[in-house]
Amino acid sequence: MIIAIDGPSASGKGTLARALAARLGYRHLDTGALYRMVGLSVMRQNIDPADEEACAAIAASLDPAAFADSELRGEAVGNLASRVAALPKVRQALLAFQRAFARRAPGAVLDGRDIGTVVCPDADFKFFITASAEARAKRRFLETPGADLAAITADIMARDARDSGRSTAPLRPADDATVIDTSALRPDEALAAVLDRIAAGR
Ligand code: C5P
Repeated sequence: MIIAIDGPSASGKGTLARALAARLGYRHLDTGALYRMVGLSVMRQNIDPADEEACAAIAASLDPAAFADSELRGEAVGNLASRVAALPKVRQALLAFQRAFARRAPGAVLDGRDIGTVVCPDADFKFFITASAEARAKRRFLETPGADLAAITADIMARDARDSGRSTAPLRPADDATVIDTSALRPDEALAAVLDRIAAGR
């Protein structure tokens, strides 16, 4: 069983994917973390994020166990992740790992931008989780002590534009995805909507 959860940043897809995997007893992969690991490595090694070959070499030799989740968060790493994620060879280098993860028993929930469209086009269920830019910026603002709401809103909008506008695997709902707008939903309500859809079957 493979469940694909895509959507823009701060839409609530990560929280939802984690809760869904725990509820169903499946494994969970946050694919954004892989792009963040590439972004962070590029920053640490002082590599030009436009150098496709060098970034792809980093993606191909990534050791996910070597990164702490706390060092991957934050808009600076997120922005760099979104820059390297626009490079086709970086995406290609991360594809096999994601597909192998999805296939292992007992089932998997993957969240990202292109799970339903590219990584797992045959997923059993596909969800596209979205929310207004204002709602998403406010969530990030409340999570980040001392943050500036205007700066967060600008970052989110710039990242949306880059993720949706790139030519390789742009952010968009798969044709057969169920779209859920979480602007006015609590996390437990979003989870209930997804569980209802799964209970209704394919
Ligand atoms: O979801 P998160 O904000 O952690 O993702 C960081 C960046 O990684 C995104 O802005 C996007 O550019 C990229 N990404 C992607 N494809 C995925 C997951 C993330 O391009 N499947």
